[in-house]
Amino acid sequence: MKQSRKKKPLPTSSEKEMTVRKMFDRIAPRYDLLNRLLTFGLDTKWREKTVKHIYAYPGAKVLDVACGTGDLCDSLHKAGIKAIGMDFSRGMLTSFNSKAPLINGDALKIPVHDSSVDGVTCGFALRNFLDINPFLNEVSRILKPGSRVALLEVDQPGNRYIRTGHSFYFNKIVPIIGGLFSDKDAYSYLPSSVIYLPEENEMIKMIERSGLSNVKKYRLTGGIVQLLVAEKPEN
Ligand SMILES: C[S@@+](CC[C@H](N)C(=O)[O-])C[C@H]1O[C@@H](n2cnc3c(N)ncnc32)[C@H](O)[C@@H]1O
Repeated sequence: MKQSRKKKPLPTSSEKEMTVRKMFDRIAPRYDLLNRLLTFGLDTKWREKTVKHIYAYPGAKVLDVACGTGDLCDSLHKAGIKAIGMDFSRGMLTSFNSKAPLINGDALKIPVHDSSVDGVTCGFALRNFLDINPFLNEVSRILKPGSRVALLEVDQPGNRYIRTGHSFYFNKIVPIIGGLFSDKDAYSYLPSSVIYLPEENEMIKMIERSGLSNVKKYRLTGGIVQLLVAEKPEN
């Protein structure tokens, strides 16, 4: 009898952290290659935009949370900013390509002093966190007053034609290409994990509840990617 191939269920809260960490350990060596292939190189442009939106001056100290292999750190560095990378996957940290200093740490408990950084960036990691609220509280805690955070993440396009085309690409094509060059399970999880992201208004409220203000959302490339920017109010 022919058996239907069901998608693996997404991990529940208790196992999510371990599953995510092991998955990134596994896919780290080919992570950059797949990023370039799957986004047709657009990911580099998205990161450059993220860096512009934190308005950090040259020499400013910016923490890139969940830095992975260091692409955002590199974009920060090119803008003359002193980037520091932080991630909890040893695999990703081993494949780290940037010259920025590194911290092995958890985004939900950032090992950095209060009000000590001039900016925070975070790329494509929100949906991988066990809970987004503690991360936002940590960002609000470590930012200096008047400085900004820029959060880059995938999104569901508003236009229904773009949404349909993108959903087909993201959910059907990405796992195939991921399977050919890296790990099919991981590249099936990454599109499905969008479901962990709160809907737009809720996300904005969560950011405000963490003590950050002036929250703005930018839709990039037809809304397939979002950039959320907020600032820590001056005292
Ligand atoms: C999709 S990758 C993004 C990497 C990089 N920011 C980029 O833009 O390419 C997600 C990263 O989040 C990291 N991550 C997930 N949960 C984390 C946590 N709780 N603390 C630190 N890093 C975490 C993973 O190890 C992985 O490197």
